[in-house]
Amino acid sequence: MTATQDSDHVNQKKYGAHDIPSYLDPNHIGPYEIYLEQVERVTPYLGKLAYWVETLKRPKRILVVDVPIHLDDGTVAHFEGYRVQHNTSRGPAKGGIRYHQDVTLSEVMALSAWMTIKNAAVNLPYGGGKGGVRIDPRKYSTGEIERLTRRYATEIGLIIGPEKDIPAPDVNTNPQTMAWIMDTYSMNVGRTSTGVVTGKPVSLGGSLGRADATGRGVFVTGAEAMKKLSLPMEGARIAIQGFGNVGEAAARIFHGHGAKIVAIQDVTGTIHSEAGIDPAAALEHLRRTGKITELPGSEEIQKDEFWSVDCDVLIPAALENQITLANADKIRARLIVEGANGPTNPAADDLLSGKGITIVPDVLANAGGVTVSYFEWVQDFSSFFWTEEEINKRLDRIMSEAFLSLWDVKEKHNVTLRTAVYIVSCTRVLEARALRGLYP
Ligand SMILES: NC(=O)c1ccc[n+]([C@@H]2O[C@H](COP(=O)([O-])OP(=O)(O)OC[C@H]3O[C@@H](n4cnc5c(N)ncnc54)[C@H](O)[C@@H]3O)[C@@H](O)[C@H]2O)c1
Repeated sequence: MTATQDSDHVNQKKYGAHDIPSYLDPNHIGPYEIYLEQVERVTPYLGKLAYWVETLKRPKRILVVDVPIHLDDGTVAHFEGYRVQHNTSRGPAKGGIRYHQDVTLSEVMALSAWMTIKNAAVNLPYGGGKGGVRIDPRKYSTGEIERLTRRYATEIGLIIGPEKDIPAPDVNTNPQTMAWIMDTYSMNVGRTSTGVVTGKPVSLGGSLGRADATGRGVFVTGAEAMKKLSLPMEGARIAIQGFGNVGEAAARIFHGHGAKIVAIQDVTGTIHSEAGIDPAAALEHLRRTGKITELPGSEEIQKDEFWSVDCDVLIPAALENQITLANADKIRARLIVEGANGPTNPAADDLLSGKGITIVPDVLANAGGVTVSYFEWVQDFSSFFWTEEEINKRLDRIMSEAFLSLWDVKEKHNVTLRTAVYIVSCTRVLEARALRGLYP
């Protein structure tokens, strides 16, 4: 996160000595500050449950680990690893593992907290967790990444487990990473434990439908929001940032339902076409050339121009903190569906809401992935596997019912959809907290 982006959401409030844990810098809290602001905004709606609100502001458990590995050149390298269990009031912690050179404790804390909110939003019996290793995986061989994964899995093995905390893939991790974690954990506990991670290959207890699940959930909630805004799907112009697991699937599914993908941006560049981009052709081109640009029938535009592309729906599906005061004013879409986690900072969020742009927030829009992860976990426990058709049907139902009930809460309180999700999720988490009581 750059200093300018960060300054967008730093409010003028000064935190007291004990408001922020000593392991965060009160003058530069990082992504966790975005989450803290979101909780503060919702507190007035929590009634008597506000008594417990501090529970939401402090992660239950944080494990920081050193991950040393032998590199291929014979030297030893050390990497910083984290696993944060934000809340377990409603069930075991659940959330992905990210490999990225910019991972920080504050970021993993924020991502774990958003998982608590997300799991409660779609009413899954989970708390929230997240993990990360501070590494640029593109610079290391497959063997080095396997050694890193196995050592990291052993280090966090102290606190993960099928009934304690269940990791899954996130940025730069994939089904192969999950297979290594599952194998390492199984070796350490002396039995094959498929339920310790989700997002595994299907041949190892993974679930059909998991690969597309997040993009599919983005489509289902986006389509419901479009109905509410009377935006027809046929010919709707969509701009997507990120063309990985989430962005590619969302683009393909929207395209398959008659929408037109007018712009795609990824780490290699930005392409635009008023006539529409075929996501299958874009994927084939990306696989063949290693970049999204120079796709026949599209023109390359500048990185910043992406935000002002004339479109009906904008889908940020890359990284957090992409929509800030630096670009929010340029956005012409009527609807934003957040495929990525935390793509919009609170200052930009306010500006967009003020302009009448509807946002389907990350904690609802991208919950499809964890929903099918939940199906995977249930299937692993019962060793009974469902068809892809059954999975998609259940996913679509959960996502559209969650959207419609949260939309009603938004209308009732006259708040944004994001605040509505926080009202419902924080209430669910704190109700569980109040019912369980404070141990001992
Ligand atoms: N994979 C899931 O099931 C899942 C579930 C919920 C949320 N998410 C969130 O969705 C987002 C994307 O995850 P993913 O799994 O698709 O990751 P991915 O690694 O498969 O894809 C990331 C995409 O973002 C692009 N990108 C990276 N940096 C960029 C930049 N600076 N500008 C423009 N594009 C950039 C990459 O080129 C790539 O196309 C993340 O925020 C992740 O936390 C993922």
